[in-house]
Amino acid sequence: MKVVVARTLPAAGLDKLQARFDVQSGGLPFDREWLLEHAPGASAIVADPTVAVDGALLDLAGDSLKVVSNFAVGFDNIDTGAVRARGLRATNTPDVLTNATAELAVGLLLAAGRRVAETDAIVRRGEWGGWEPEQFLGRELSGATVGLVGFGRIGRRVAALLRGFGPRLVFSTVHPKGEAAAEHGAERMELHDLLAVSDYVSLHVNLTPQTTHLIDAAALARCKPGAILVNTCRGAVVDTAALVDALRRGPLAGAGLDVYENEPAVPEELVALPNTVLVPHIGSATRATRDAMAELCADNVIAVLDGHEPLTPIV
Ligand code: DGY
Repeated sequence: MKVVVARTLPAAGLDKLQARFDVQSGGLPFDREWLLEHAPGASAIVADPTVAVDGALLDLAGDSLKVVSNFAVGFDNIDTGAVRARGLRATNTPDVLTNATAELAVGLLLAAGRRVAETDAIVRRGEWGGWEPEQFLGRELSGATVGLVGFGRIGRRVAALLRGFGPRLVFSTVHPKGEAAAEHGAERMELHDLLAVSDYVSLHVNLTPQTTHLIDAAALARCKPGAILVNTCRGAVVDTAALVDALRRGPLAGAGLDVYENEPAVPEELVALPNTVLVPHIGSATRATRDAMAELCADNVIAVLDGHEPLTPIV
C-alpha cells in the first residue's frame, strides 16, 4: 500500500511507516504540485498544519484512500466535511503535545509580562545604560488574574503549571467543564467578563468558523489596561490588525505570539513593536514531543490500514 507523506515526518514515525508500506515523502519545502502528482493510488495521506486537505485532493487520491493522518492536534487544515462525505477517516495527535504547548504558553506569559524580548534587544544593541529604580517594569504572575480562553487539554495543563505562581485563574469555554474547573480552582466566566478582569489572557481554542477572529477589536477593547495576550493556538483566532492597534494604543501592554494569521508571514507591524515576543509556531517543538506525535501519526495510519479503529480519530 502507498502512503503519501505530504512533507516529512520525524524518523520515529517515518520508520514505522516505511517498515510496512511504500512511503513517498514530498520533503521540504512543501510542494503542493508534488502532492497532487503523488496522491493518486494512496491508501493514506500524512498531512500537517501547513497542508490543506480538501475534497479535490481526496478525490485525486481516489478509491484507494482510507485515512488522512494529521501530524498535529489542530485540524483546521482538513476539510472534515469532505472527509466524512467520502466515508474516510481522519486523525490527529492529541495529548502527546499538551505539556510542551502548555509550557510554551507559560514561557510566553512570563516573557511578555517581564518584557524579556524587548530588554534582551536593548542589551544586545548596547543601549543599556545601567540599573535604574523604575526601569523596565513588568508585572508578576503571582497575584495576577490569568484568563484562559478555552479549557480543553492544553488550557487545563496551563492552569496546572501556573498553580505554583499563585494567580487567580478564570476561564471561558463553550463546553461544560465543571469538574476540571474545581480541580484547578478556576472560575468559569463569559469571554467578555474574562477579558475585563484578566491581567493575562492565554488562548487555547481550536480554530473553527466560530473562533475565527474571536479576539477582535470589540473583544480587545474589553481587555484590562496593561493586559498581556498570549496566543499558542491558531493565528486566525485573533484579528491581527486589531491586535496591532491594541498594542500601540492600549489596552494591551504586550503580547506573546507563537502563531500568526498567514504563516509563515509575520506582519511587519508586530515585528516593529517592542512589546511583542514572537516565536515561530514552536508550541510542540521538543524532540520528545515531535517524536511522540510522529509515532501516533504513524500508528493511526497503521490502525486504519490494518482495518482497525484509529487511535485518535477526528472523523
Ligand atoms: C498542532 O499540533 O496543532 C500544532 O499547531 C503543531 O504542533
